[in-house]
Amino acid sequence: MAKTILIVDDDPTQRRLLQAVVEKQNFIAAHADSGEAALDALGNGGNIDIILLDLVMPGMGGMKALAEMKARAPHVPVIVLTGQGGIDTVVKAMQAGAADFFVKPVSPERLTVSLRNVMKVGELQGEVVRLRKTASGALCFGDMIADAPAMRQVVRLGERGAKSNIPILVLGDSGVGKELVAQAIHGASARSGKPMITVNCGALPENLVESILFGHEKGAFTGAIDKHMGKFREANGGTLFLDEVGDLPQDIQVKLLRALQEGEIDPVGAKRSVKVDVRIISATNRDLAEDVATGKFREDLFYRLNVFPIDVPPLQDRMEDLPELVRHFIGRFNAQEGMHITGVTAQTMSLLKGFNWPGNVRQLENAVFRAVILCEGTELEAQDFPHISGVTRDIEADDDEELALVVEPVAAQPDGPASDRDGPVHITNTAGHIRALEAIERDLIEFAIGAYAGHMSEIARRLGIGRSTLYRKVREHDLDAKASKTG
Ligand SMILES: Nc1ncnc2c1ncn2[C@@H]1O[C@H](COP(=O)(O)OP(=O)(O)OP(=O)(O)O)[C@@H](O)[C@H]1O
Ligand SMILES: [Mg+2]
Repeated sequence: MAKTILIVDDDPTQRRLLQAVVEKQNFIAAHADSGEAALDALGNGGNIDIILLDLVMPGMGGMKALAEMKARAPHVPVIVLTGQGGIDTVVKAMQAGAADFFVKPVSPERLTVSLRNVMKVGELQGEVVRLRKTASGALCFGDMIADAPAMRQVVRLGERGAKSNIPILVLGDSGVGKELVAQAIHGASARSGKPMITVNCGALPENLVESILFGHEKGAFTGAIDKHMGKFREANGGTLFLDEVGDLPQDIQVKLLRALQEGEIDPVGAKRSVKVDVRIISATNRDLAEDVATGKFREDLFYRLNVFPIDVPPLQDRMEDLPELVRHFIGRFNAQEGMHITGVTAQTMSLLKGFNWPGNVRQLENAVFRAVILCEGTELEAQDFPHISGVTRDIEADDDEELALVVEPVAAQPDGPASDRDGPVHITNTAGHIRALEAIERDLIEFAIGAYAGHMSEIARRLGIGRSTLYRKVREHDLDAKASKTG
């Protein structure tokens, strides 16, 4: 997890000195005694994050090595080192793309600051690239973390589906990355230069669904002051992403079917139909076949949407990707929050690997976000993941109710008999007395909001109460339901 710094110097004493500084900052040090060896290390997929390069070396020499490095791995920052009097070379090196430079002897403090700055710039650049790609519709499968075998299949299918205009249905539990897959399909398709318009079908006000999707003419109904394009026409030439498609009301399902079959829509109040050229990607975390069986979802529409289903597996089935996802999210929140977290401790990583992540990648993303904010050192620790480890930092303890500290890691199972290792929700206080029901309820709901990443329907179902009851309790307890649902 920690970043790897490649130290390139022909002088073994110098390498050892730099190694000591690097390791003290919790980075991993790798060595090369020549430019050639450094390029080998870089080429072997050794996951080098930053290079410290001596400019004066026998053989290929630092300048030549630098040029090669920038050609082969332009995203890996190179910090150059030189002896007194080598300033001219330093100028050339900076022009050739070096990120920073030092004149030997190197002071450990200055080197540490430089490493951190270089890393921060890298993370900010990564974040800028990601945001720009998301905004312009150029996000593609290479931007997803999907090395686990279960995910490779998703990428294979997605890339194949992207090549044609076939309707795609992205299936999977909440938080698995359905929207990201949809964006990648759009980005990999010939339509990537055109807009991708997202509609959250579950969040449309019932009386406006039709107008939002298909548009309306001026004066079509009371309040229709202006003509409105509608999402279909906004997406013309591009992709329309129908998120939570299972939530569409029945009468709209009929109209959507017609749009798909005929390639034309009827804006509200319009005299004529309008031709549209959109590629439909839809997504749902519901069992649509089941909804068809119970009559909630139209069978004919289901077959239209479900031509090319892609199942995104739960995080639990692709834990091989977890370390990389954690690293990715740390980088993102470092950039966003101006933090310098280098990774997670080995113990914490095994804790994260042992958890079952019912809220999937989104829950992991939220957990890392919270951890980055809570973290007091350079690496994330168990207590930075209180919902998962059951370990809290002192600052978290209640004033009037000192909670007992549960140190044992718990892998919470959503179902099954109550465990005696009940995790972060405590029924007794430190004095061994039972806590008030209301206080336990509050903690339980708070825990559930974190565990299910703020997905209120899921939380209500798990707690066995109605959604409106849940919302009422959230208000009563003054909890922040949205706090854990980002993105
Ligand atoms: N493979 C991945 N690599 C990198 N980031 C990912 C990956 N999968 C998901 N994410 C991130 O996790 C978050 C949740 O993903 P997304 O919104 O696509 O999930 P979803 O299945 O649509 O969730 P929901 O059911 O809540 O709508 C996003 O911030 C997304 O960028
Ligand atoms: Mg989604």
